[in-house]
Amino acid sequence: MSNYDLLPGFPTNRARRLRRTEHLREMFREIRLHTTDFIYPLFIVEGSDIKKEISSMPGQYQMSIDNLARECESLLELGVGSVLLFGIPAEKDEVGSGAYAEDGIIQKAVREIKSRAPEMVVITDVCLCEYTSHGHCGVIENGDVVNDKTLELLVKEAVSHAQAGADMVAPSDMMDGRVGAIRSALDGAGLVNTPIMAYSAKYSSAFYGPFREAAESAPQFGDRRAYQMDFGNSDEAMREIALDIKEGADVVMVKPALSYLDVIRRVKTEFNIPIAAYNVSGEFSMVKAAAQKGWLDGERVMMEILMSIKRAGADTMITYFAKEAAALLK
Ligand code: PBG
Repeated sequence: MSNYDLLPGFPTNRARRLRRTEHLREMFREIRLHTTDFIYPLFIVEGSDIKKEISSMPGQYQMSIDNLARECESLLELGVGSVLLFGIPAEKDEVGSGAYAEDGIIQKAVREIKSRAPEMVVITDVCLCEYTSHGHCGVIENGDVVNDKTLELLVKEAVSHAQAGADMVAPSDMMDGRVGAIRSALDGAGLVNTPIMAYSAKYSSAFYGPFREAAESAPQFGDRRAYQMDFGNSDEAMREIALDIKEGADVVMVKPALSYLDVIRRVKTEFNIPIAAYNVSGEFSMVKAAAQKGWLDGERVMMEILMSIKRAGADTMITYFAKEAAALLK
């Protein structure tokens, strides 16, 4: 016998009784969104007084460092207390030197935010694709991204972000062994309190299209399928998650979110660890485009999507909707 056998049938049972009014529905709502659920991505460029809208992501901008303090103040006012930083360097090279330079774009941005809005939780994306001339997430040899040499660079990048003051580092490159390598390097540098949010189950996805315009990081040849995951796989996602936990991840991530809600739910059921989900650029842009055409109610669809990600099991969500959603929740 299951618990469900205890349920009386209709007409004794009428599920609609608890749906009658807004207050009743609110009383029995299982999941609630809160402004602290969101992490807001920021794209930072060199220069001053720059706030340039990303054409494929309405309402999202590339901005220069002098605009960050104001941006963070407005986020904090809305109740959004964490940001994920992506840097677009002035110059790119074969080995992504800008990613681990002392005066790199992210290092400067982190120092600015931590001095102007110290309570903001600053997370940095640790990857090389925005910094390499070829747009791949690592060192290229014979047309392939070489894993172990790339690790050395990622480690330098993560440590330099943390030394600049980042509260958390988020490796998104999908190289094998990067979480362990970054953990031991952080510990070696005395940064034992810097957590790692690992992009553990990161799929090779067409939903990243608009981001590559925003971050100017499209690969110049080939694609990322030799390192990001194949979207037919969820058993493999569980292995990736298990490996990252063993290597020391404090938070694991599933990315993208919407076509992967089943993966989020599996992680929630099979592991006991904080889960982040990345509601990626394409998921955002689709809603915006349909809303602009009048085909969807953009606000309602946004809230339904964010709720679904949380309901699937995510503890935190990286989303370009953060500001709009927070404004509605306030
Ligand atoms: C960098 C990175 C990407 C995203 C986050 N970090 C792009 C990619 O892997 O091509 C995608 C985010 C989005 O689409 O919103 N490796």
